[in-house]
Amino acid sequence: MKTILITGGAGFIGSHICLVLLDEGYEVIVIDSFENSSVNSLKRVLDIFLKKDNYLANKLEIFNGDICDRTFIENVFLNMKKCNKEIYGVIHLAGLKSVSESILNPQLYWKKNVLGTINLLEIMEKYECLNLVYSSSATIYDSKENSFFNENAKIKPVNPYGNTKFVIEKFLEDLYQSSKKSWKFASLRYFNPIGAHKSGLIGENPKGLPNNIFPLIINTAIGEQKTFKIYGNDWPTKDGTPVRDYIHVMDLAETHIKVLEYLIKEKSTYFNLNVGTGLGTSVLELINIFERTNGIKVPSVFSKRRAGDACSVIADNSLLKSKFKIIPKRTIEDMCRDGWRWKQLNPEGY
Ligand SMILES: NC(=O)c1ccc[n+]([C@@H]2O[C@H](COP(=O)([O-])OP(=O)(O)OC[C@H]3O[C@@H](n4cnc5c(N)ncnc54)[C@H](O)[C@@H]3O)[C@@H](O)[C@H]2O)c1
Repeated sequence: MKTILITGGAGFIGSHICLVLLDEGYEVIVIDSFENSSVNSLKRVLDIFLKKDNYLANKLEIFNGDICDRTFIENVFLNMKKCNKEIYGVIHLAGLKSVSESILNPQLYWKKNVLGTINLLEIMEKYECLNLVYSSSATIYDSKENSFFNENAKIKPVNPYGNTKFVIEKFLEDLYQSSKKSWKFASLRYFNPIGAHKSGLIGENPKGLPNNIFPLIINTAIGEQKTFKIYGNDWPTKDGTPVRDYIHVMDLAETHIKVLEYLIKEKSTYFNLNVGTGLGTSVLELINIFERTNGIKVPSVFSKRRAGDACSVIADNSLLKSKFKIIPKRTIEDMCRDGWRWKQLNPEGY
């Protein structure tokens, strides 16, 4: 049985990836500091699986620590070596992701995201673990240029979070080109992951005030906040509100496994890959679909545009379709239904 290491595995996207990995028969090792998550997400992952197969209980191992601590990472690899377990590949999600926090505290973001990744790669190199899928972001594209982005579109991050995401891509590319080792890297540029596993047992559970649109919509629907603010109704889009490419978190999770399996078979490679549906949904459309699908109102108000916001960001996902034969299959209605089920079953989170 193959062992995969996932950093940030307790978080929103990571917990869904853990589930898919277990489902595909992998053994999973999670590294997480739990600074933006709870160990309960991983307990829930196991709950879902124990219903199917008791044997899977010992197929998920958790290491609580920070990727900025190089010795900690090395101990995880040493531990595995002692147990004669080879780590076939790493899915690297650990990092901080709040744009607003990154503007207030860039040093923290460079340290946690960039230094943490350098540490991880040093240890991977030392232990000859050369396959890595990295969680990059569509936020690095120059959103003033265009609204439909392929992987060669102009890059121009506009905040420290985006800068850290992009320099890590460059770091991986440099390592690959140095040809010291046969590295195999894929940088997945996520568009807007939302939704939750259909069980309603795991989902997005941000600590503190959420930043992203979807948790804000569900918090409004459940009454935690009075109204949902729509920033701008004068954008040059179909209804004046910003357009994004939303992708179900399970479609995103499944993509990681397919890409990792591709890397494991390759000799040496580096590539960037957009992970989105290729479909644009405006903020007003998202609210309407959420209301219609779930039979619940989301009171909303218009407010002024925010500085730094983009008008329209949609993936050209041709590469995802042609190279990996992946077509995200869950609809925007599925995303709204599954995300709302998660919130209703877990109003306080984990
Ligand atoms: N959610 C999105 O909209 C989105 C979009 C594009 C890219 N991403 C990237 O995907 C990754 C996962 O995002 P998410 O939405 O699941 O976020 P999340 O905050 O839910 O998950 C990140 C996990 O990493 C852990 N972590 C953070 N810093 C760490 C450190 N130094 N050492 C160990 N663990 C650490 C957190 O505790 C958390 O469990 C992030 O790198 C994020 O930048 C997310």
